[in-house]
Amino acid sequence: MSELERTFVMVKPDGVQRGLIGEIVSRFEDRGLKLVAGKVMQIDDELAREHYAEHVDKPFFDDLSSFITSGPVFAMVWEGQAAVAQVRTMMGETDPADSAPGTIRGDFGLDLGRNVIHGSDTEEGSAAREINLFFDADELQDYERIDEPWLYE
Ligand code: RTP
Ligand code: MG
Repeated sequence: MSELERTFVMVKPDGVQRGLIGEIVSRFEDRGLKLVAGKVMQIDDELAREHYAEHVDKPFFDDLSSFITSGPVFAMVWEGQAAVAQVRTMMGETDPADSAPGTIRGDFGLDLGRNVIHGSDTEEGSAAREINLFFDADELQDYERIDEPWLYE
């Protein structure tokens, strides 16, 4: 088995308002990923700037910040083999219009600025940075799923 990883995932305010939390959690559970943390929370302007630090100077940042702070989000940490890349693949492309059916954005979105879900990108350190930004260490649970011997060789 290759490396187990943890990744930060968030149902954005549009996904929460549209009742998609359960559907999205189900997809990751069904895949065999393990939920190690999750909470409904509100992002403030300061957290938006930290979380999207790489985009602060881009022309779309104000719209992005207004959107992500506009209502509750569902923040999660998922663990599994190659979890960071697997979640990104399951999410689809940044723009739902470019996302294949079967992906979360391809099944539930139409517009770049309302793309339902966030997942850490595969750049080294992104996932750890975001997990630490949103969760305290004691909010992350270490446990075994009973199906793990059947999920991994
Ligand atoms: P995210 O961070 O939200 O999971 O999305 P991502 O990695 O797929 O895309 P990223 O490049 O990190 O962009 C963050 C969010 O900014 C909005 N965006 N708008 N108007 C534009 O050109 C533009 N580009 C990006 C998107 O809503 C994207 O999710
Ligand atoms: Mg991103």
